[in-house]
Amino acid sequence: MVQRDSATWKRTTHALWATSLLLLPAIVCCGCGDDGADRSNDDSSKPADHAASPLHDSDNSGTDSPAAEPETAPDLADEFPPLAALPPVPVPGDNPITPAKVELGRMLFFDTRLSGDAGTSCASCHDPRLGWGDGSGLSRGYAGTQHWRNSQTVVNTAYLSKLFWAGEAPSLEAQANSAITGNLAGNGDPVMIEERLAQIPEYVALFQQAFGVDRPRYPLVLKSIASFERAELTSDDSDFDKFLRGDEQALSEESQRGLAIFRGKGRCIVCHNGPLLSDEKFHYLDLPRNEFFEQDPLRQIALRYQHYIRGVPEEVYRNADHDLGLYYTTKRDEDIGKFRTPPLRYLAYTSPYMHNGVFPTLAELIEYYNQGGGDDPRQSPLIQPLGLTEEEKFDLEEFLLSLSGSEIRITPPVLPLYKPME
Ligand code: HEC
Ligand code: HEC
Repeated sequence: MVQRDSATWKRTTHALWATSLLLLPAIVCCGCGDDGADRSNDDSSKPADHAASPLHDSDNSGTDSPAAEPETAPDLADEFPPLAALPPVPVPGDNPITPAKVELGRMLFFDTRLSGDAGTSCASCHDPRLGWGDGSGLSRGYAGTQHWRNSQTVVNTAYLSKLFWAGEAPSLEAQANSAITGNLAGNGDPVMIEERLAQIPEYVALFQQAFGVDRPRYPLVLKSIASFERAELTSDDSDFDKFLRGDEQALSEESQRGLAIFRGKGRCIVCHNGPLLSDEKFHYLDLPRNEFFEQDPLRQIALRYQHYIRGVPEEVYRNADHDLGLYYTTKRDEDIGKFRTPPLRYLAYTSPYMHNGVFPTLAELIEYYNQGGGDDPRQSPLIQPLGLTEEEKFDLEEFLLSLSGSEIRITPPVLPLYKPME
């Protein structure tokens, strides 16, 4: 059972940041291209009549008016894929899980020699002690860089068909390739990686054992890391999962009330649904800006660089000052600022939250939703003021915490050394 404290352990270090954040103005629509995107283009499974639900004032600018709301909010759960326990991990036909691959993948995940300067491993930004993220609002970057997005947890990513905040990679194998070669992450060169691994006899033997090959190959590095993630980085032992499997005692009364809010008055289930608590679709939430981005030249460089390499027109990237999300992939104006709905298991260990790491605590995140998000008219119409009472916000936070199971902590493997050729 996860104690509320485990989600708050970083709160003190973020207290100052949090205070100043509340004073920040909401992000305004980016000054790039057509901002007239039609709200009806929002990618969602929401039936049209939801926006006009009697539950909520459709005017985003207002705060709550609880008096106007019915005592009991209707349960929206029937209209969306049901919340459910996680199914078995999907495994691609061309990369079955074997113990040898998993062992190799675990070592490679922690091995800095996959990166250009042999100084950064996956675990540098996905630290088991920091919820398999890096614990900061915005991620560290490869030597000499800083990332412009939050480092996501790797836990339960085996279930996702769209990886990264804006869903840019279709599989864990493809994602690992981006992470190893990407200039802000590993900045590694596949040819150099093969030569380095070939100089380490233990790795040569492990590749032999796992794949029957005579020397380490780069595509097999990707397959091994993905197998490790599928086999060891899944979490389905949360109180909520136990509850779903029939143990009614597993959820506290507060969490059960929070679940009802999640499915009803809080409208969370509109996007966070199905076994993953994600529709895996893209939505634009008008988030506050992250002060740390505003003050960090290296992160601003990284953002412009990202614009450039994703083929964004010059007039847009020269002045880039925020993340365009799904737009980088589709180049459609209506996709500016849209991000994939993230799954919600393991939240207790992964603060700060959101693609720009702007919320250090779940309480702040809930308050953001309660206010109806930001005030950009292009924000998804599915985000509306909620009018939650203090008790309801507390219960919702309890429910969110009940979605995290025990912490996955592993001892970093002992890595084999280079040996001179015989
Ligand atoms: C320098 C920091 C850094 C390094 C090194 C790094 N990552 Fe990441 N990782 C991130 C950030 C930041 C994101 C989110 C990036 C984005 O959305 O564009 C991310 C996203 C991911 C995701 C997607 C999670 C999701 O919910 O979609 C996975 C999986 C992942 N990383 C695995 C890895 C693996 C495996 C490695 C090593 C091969 C690695 N990362 C190396 C920072 C890093
Ligand atoms: C319109 C769809 C939508 C609705 C409704 C919605 N969310 Fe989200 N949620 C998202 C998207 C998209 C993100 C990522 C946004 C970003 O980073 O720009 C997100 C992010 C989050 C995160 C951060 C996860 C992380 O790993 O950082 C939490 C927690 C969360 N939502 C909880 C909730 C709760 C609680 C509610 C109900 C009060 C809710 N959401 C309603 C779409 C939605």
